[in-house]
Amino acid sequence: MTPLVVGNWKMHGALAEASTLARGVVNGARDVSGVELALAPPFTSLPTVAAITRDSAIALAAQNAHWETRGAFTGEVSPEMLRELGCRYVILGHSERRHIFTETDEMVAKKVPAAIAAGLQPILCVGETLDERQADKTDAVVSRQLTSALKGLNKGVIKFVSLAYEPVWAIGTGHNATPQQVEEVHRGVRRVLAQLWDKEHAGVCRILYGGSVKPENAGELAAVPELDGFLVGGASLQADGFLKIARAFR
Ligand code: PGA
Repeated sequence: MTPLVVGNWKMHGALAEASTLARGVVNGARDVSGVELALAPPFTSLPTVAAITRDSAIALAAQNAHWETRGAFTGEVSPEMLRELGCRYVILGHSERRHIFTETDEMVAKKVPAAIAAGLQPILCVGETLDERQADKTDAVVSRQLTSALKGLNKGVIKFVSLAYEPVWAIGTGHNATPQQVEEVHRGVRRVLAQLWDKEHAGVCRILYGGSVKPENAGELAAVPELDGFLVGGASLQADGFLKIARAFR
C-alpha cells in the first residue's frame, strides 16, 4: 500500500501564503517517490492550490464537508462542490470539528457515505482525549467512532476510505504518541475493520497517524507496523519540513 502523507493546513493559508506553500511542495516533491502527497488548504484556497498542483502528482484534499448535496445550510460546503474543485480527499471527523464545533458521531456517519457518493475519498479521523486514555478507554472510543462512521458502508466502497488515528492529546501539543502506542491503536483499528467486514477488506484501508508529526520523529513513526501514512498539521506549513516527513517512508 502506498503511504499517504496529508498536509492539513487548518485555518492557515490565505491566497498568497497558500500559493507560496503549494509551489514549494510541488517543486520539492519532484524527488519524493513511493509516497502519495495531498494538501488540505482552507476552502477559500482550494482553487489556487488546485491550479498549482494540477500537473503534479499531489492530490487536493478538503478539511470538511456537509452530507447534503445542496440546501439551506448556511456556511456549509457540499462534497459535490469539493469534487468540482478537484478534491480527491476530504478529512472528516477531525477532532477539532468534533470538540470545538461539536460534531457528533452521527454527523460524521452521514458525511462518510455522502463523500464517497460524490466521488471523494474520506480520511476519517478518530482518537481519544487525554482523560479517555488515562481512564483506559482508548480502544473503546476508537472502536465506537469507527463503527459508527463505517458500519453502513458496503464492502465495495471501503477501498476509498482512509483512517487517521489522531489522539487528541497529541494534536498541536508537541507530544506525539510513541511508536508503541501508535502500533497498539493501529492494530486495534485493523481488528475493528475485520469485525465490520472481514480480514481481507480490513487490509485495504490505509491507517494514518496524526498528532505532532515532525521531521524529527517521522522516521521512527514511519517504521511502525500497520502505519500507512501521516496527517500532518503544524509541520505541513513549511514545505521543507513537510517533504522531510514524506521522505521518512523511503
Ligand atoms: P499537528 O496536527 O500535526 O499540528 O499536531 C495534526 C492534525 O490535527 O491533523
